[in-house]
Amino acid sequence: MTETFRAAWQQALYGPDGFYRRERPAAHFRTSVHASPLFGQAIARLARELDLDQVVDLGAGSGELGKVLRAGGLSVLDIELDDELPDRLSGLVIANEWLDNVPCEVVEWDDEGVPRYLLADLTPGPVVEGNDLHWLEQWWPPTTAAPGRPGDRAEIGSTRDQSWAAVVGRLARGSLAIAIDYGHLRSSRPPYGTLTGFRSGRECSPIPDGSCDITAHVALDSLGGTIVRQRDALRALGVSGARPSLDLAQTDPMRYLSELSSAGEAAELLDPSGLGGFGWVWTAADADTERRAARALSA
Ligand SMILES: C[S@@+](CC[C@H](N)C(=O)[O-])C[C@H]1O[C@@H](n2cnc3c(N)ncnc32)[C@H](O)[C@@H]1O
Repeated sequence: MTETFRAAWQQALYGPDGFYRRERPAAHFRTSVHASPLFGQAIARLARELDLDQVVDLGAGSGELGKVLRAGGLSVLDIELDDELPDRLSGLVIANEWLDNVPCEVVEWDDEGVPRYLLADLTPGPVVEGNDLHWLEQWWPPTTAAPGRPGDRAEIGSTRDQSWAAVVGRLARGSLAIAIDYGHLRSSRPPYGTLTGFRSGRECSPIPDGSCDITAHVALDSLGGTIVRQRDALRALGVSGARPSLDLAQTDPMRYLSELSSAGEAAELLDPSGLGGFGWVWTAADADTERRAARALSA
């Protein structure tokens, strides 16, 4: 088959001279990890509530999350491109904004209502068939957000599902894995897809030449697991955007300023139209951990 967009995307990000072989994520976009240490502190709180003393940071970027967690006394295993995924994953496994960077097939419906793979230059190629067609029918069917009209697009999430299944399948007893990402559900898929690029803090065309990050939202429900909004998960873990009282400004101005700055950072992490609207998809290795995680992550 002619090279599809997925293959070009894979090469552009992870090939020998790919974007992630050269670039630091923080130079191009802002994740929850970059927004505030409050995010890492909430992850640390969750680990403690589950009696876990290790966090595995999958797709760790420059390791900013690990720095916050180590400062809180946890041990951290950063996993990046050159690392093998260990056979067994123990502790709290966090994949923050990893899956949106796992390349997937991008497809577009033609004038006859047939979905076709998009090629590296985003022109239509072969008809979608086999497991990809099966995934589309199950997870992105024409009946949901009405794709299937000429020019509608979808992103086939099976590569993300497989990547995540490989993580969940390695969980040791007592462990919990959480994929945190922007995404959508079967009931409201975006009819034109979400494929885009980022370079130096700005959105750009997703040209697969290694010059920019390329990303597409994650079909959160096809991963399997329990889904909770970041806003709700972080609130359950004690993150609050409440401003300090004005009295504090009189009695302890330095503390007032510090609490005000934290409240601003918390508000960014909780913003339902931004980071707060991300999904946390979690799976526990066993029933006891599942019960404890459900308690810790619900308001
Ligand atoms: C969007 S960045 C997120 C970085 C960090 N987690 C954060 O929240 O700031 C995605 C990261 O996943 C890494 N990554 C992609 N595929 C990977 C793989 N198969 N194994 C390990 N890391 C991977 C990339 O190199 C990149 O650093």
